[in-house]
Amino acid sequence: MKVLVQASDDRANEMIVRKLHHVAYRCRDASETVDFYTNVLGLKFSHAVRNDNVPSTGEFYPHLHIFFEMDDGSSVAFFETPNEAPMSFDPNTPQWVQHLALEIDSKETQLAFRERLDAMGVDYIGPTDHGFVQSIYFFDPNGHRLELTYRSQQPGELERAEQEAPRLLEKWLSDRKQWGEQDDLD
Ligand SMILES: [Fe+2]
Repeated sequence: MKVLVQASDDRANEMIVRKLHHVAYRCRDASETVDFYTNVLGLKFSHAVRNDNVPSTGEFYPHLHIFFEMDDGSSVAFFETPNEAPMSFDPNTPQWVQHLALEIDSKETQLAFRERLDAMGVDYIGPTDHGFVQSIYFFDPNGHRLELTYRSQQPGELERAEQEAPRLLEKWLSDRKQWGEQDDLD
């Protein structure tokens, strides 16, 4: 695979993707998921679609597709597909890797969420100081890892990070080669 290390200076002019519309995961139980995303996270249960066949492929998979809208109009969505084997996660990927990070506005909001999670008996870890963001982490009832984060970058920090990113990637690729067994990823 050819890796693009140096992004083009024209990239900004080619930016055609506006924002996240929705991300979709599987859920175990639609009602439990509605309860969590509306009552714990405060999202809007904005849309539900019931189908016997998958619209894009035509395959027979009876399902309910539910959407939870956020402040910017983007959504987190789920499919309940009750006729399939119970959902599981990739056993080769550590639990902390795949997660959905949702942005909140401030430390105060995060504190209020922590109190709400405490009151509801939802375990969380954090806040974790990542420099440019401050995050707490917990799991939804389906086992999806969530991050609630607010921005805390210093002036110029994100610009420096963007400039440094290609160099870090290059260093990573070179270090990775020394480990040998990852060479077949190239
Ligand atoms: Fe994250």
